[in-house]
Amino acid sequence: MKSGKIAPRKAPPRGFFCTACGGESPRWFGQCPVCSSWNTLVEAPAALGPAAGGARAGRGARGGAGAGSAGEGAGRSGSGVARRRWVESDLAQAPVPLRDVELSASARWPTGIRELDRVLGGGVVPGSLLLVGGDPGIGKSTLMLQLSRALAREGRKVLYVAGEESAPQVRLRAERLGAIPDALYLLCETEVESVLEQATQLRPDAVVVDSIQTAMTAEGTGAPGSITQVRESALAYLDLAKGAGIPVFLVGHVTKDGAVAGPRVLEHMVDAVLYLEGERYHDVRVLRAAKNRFGSTDELGVFAMAEDGLREVDDASRAFLGESVPRPGAITVGVVEGARPLLVEVQALVTSSSFAQPQRVTNGFDSKRIALLLAVLEKRVGVRVSHGDVFTNVAGGLTLDEPGADLGVLLAVASSREDRLPTPGMIAFGEVGLAGEVRRVRQPASRVREAARLGFTVALVPQAQAAECEGFGVTVIPVADARAALAAGLGPRRVAARGGAAVGAEGATEGPGEDDA
Ligand code: TYD
Ligand code: MG
Repeated sequence: MKSGKIAPRKAPPRGFFCTACGGESPRWFGQCPVCSSWNTLVEAPAALGPAAGGARAGRGARGGAGAGSAGEGAGRSGSGVARRRWVESDLAQAPVPLRDVELSASARWPTGIRELDRVLGGGVVPGSLLLVGGDPGIGKSTLMLQLSRALAREGRKVLYVAGEESAPQVRLRAERLGAIPDALYLLCETEVESVLEQATQLRPDAVVVDSIQTAMTAEGTGAPGSITQVRESALAYLDLAKGAGIPVFLVGHVTKDGAVAGPRVLEHMVDAVLYLEGERYHDVRVLRAAKNRFGSTDELGVFAMAEDGLREVDDASRAFLGESVPRPGAITVGVVEGARPLLVEVQALVTSSSFAQPQRVTNGFDSKRIALLLAVLEKRVGVRVSHGDVFTNVAGGLTLDEPGADLGVLLAVASSREDRLPTPGMIAFGEVGLAGEVRRVRQPASRVREAARLGFTVALVPQAQAAECEGFGVTVIPVADARAALAAGLGPRRVAARGGAAVGAEGATEGPGEDDA
């Protein structure tokens, strides 16, 4: 730990990292070459090549030396040494014929938490380093404790390292979740070297570090949470995961400012990045993989935060649906996330702007995509939105990046702008092109089937895919372009809106209720 000998060691490779996007560059720039943020590059130890995780994993000893530069001497008393002491090397030190690689070595441990397994790609992969990110208070610790319990119940020894809460606090939380298994161990510690030493003795089958921003290592300079500390600590835990062949989970808060290094600066060095999203004051939580070396990044896990922790949501679509009464500005879209169709309500509100530059506030969509859809609406359909403030939102705090949601967003904006009610019981999907054409999406039939299951009766679908959508008891309305979609999917302007554009916009401000009818 306290090594007075840090100075003489060979300078470890260093690089510059963007605190906003995590992008790496070999030298300092005023503007991040990856995300174009200004003054966000900070110097920190490099991850030994871009694919640090995999690279390190594979190469065992050689890596140790290179990485370590640190390795020798007291320098890296933590990770390096600890690793060598108790690792039975199941890492290949020499090339082996691919055919002879044992499959069992890559077996997964299903957690039994179905929504979590889905996102992990079937279960936890031993030897992997995973990052679980999310806003503070969203439920990361809860999820990790549930995961720990699930693994411990199977008889696997789990070490839960709490850096943010006291032991009684963690115990109280664990008790809300149910009986505490014998194999679940707690360590309240922030110093990485101590954690590794304890791990050496306990020899856990899995480790959870909550959180990486509170971790501190003698290797790093700066305060806990600084980009150097966070990266150095993560590297030490990477050694633990790869060296001991156990899964290590790092919890990381998403931070808005650059003062504390967010999980993004670690994305490059871990095997998988899971983000827990949702609106803090609503109970729906969505877990998605931003990166997964062992599975797909399309899958989505849906939970609801309850008294006794995160519950799996069986009927994901219902979690994102609004009331069934049609309201202007609210459209149900059918999207496909991973292998599963999902119905989600998207909402828009268009009001007359009091700013010279109207506001565009977007929650859950890519704002560039929205800008494009607004331009299409204005230019191709003739709905004027350029002078209004436009707010768009996805119900339940979900983030939608599937292009199939385009048509729904467009309809929602037009519906609010013109104060026209959407057709009752309708879902819509389709990608919208620059010419206003409605383009194909993948798996259209599964979206319509999901709509039928939830009692929807009408589906606005891309014309080219209408035939595939038949046969589910839902009235299929093929639409070729955005203009046709508005005609087919939205009712007439409501009476109160007759006065003209200004009034229409006013009506929308009031909240699209009945009161203005
Ligand atoms: P937490 O897991 O501490 O969030 P994070 O680690 O991401 O900061 O959970 C925070 C919220 O979850 C907190 O407001 C309390 C709530 N909660 C429940 O509603 N039910 C539960 O069973 C638990 C453990 C927490
Ligand atoms: Mg927490």
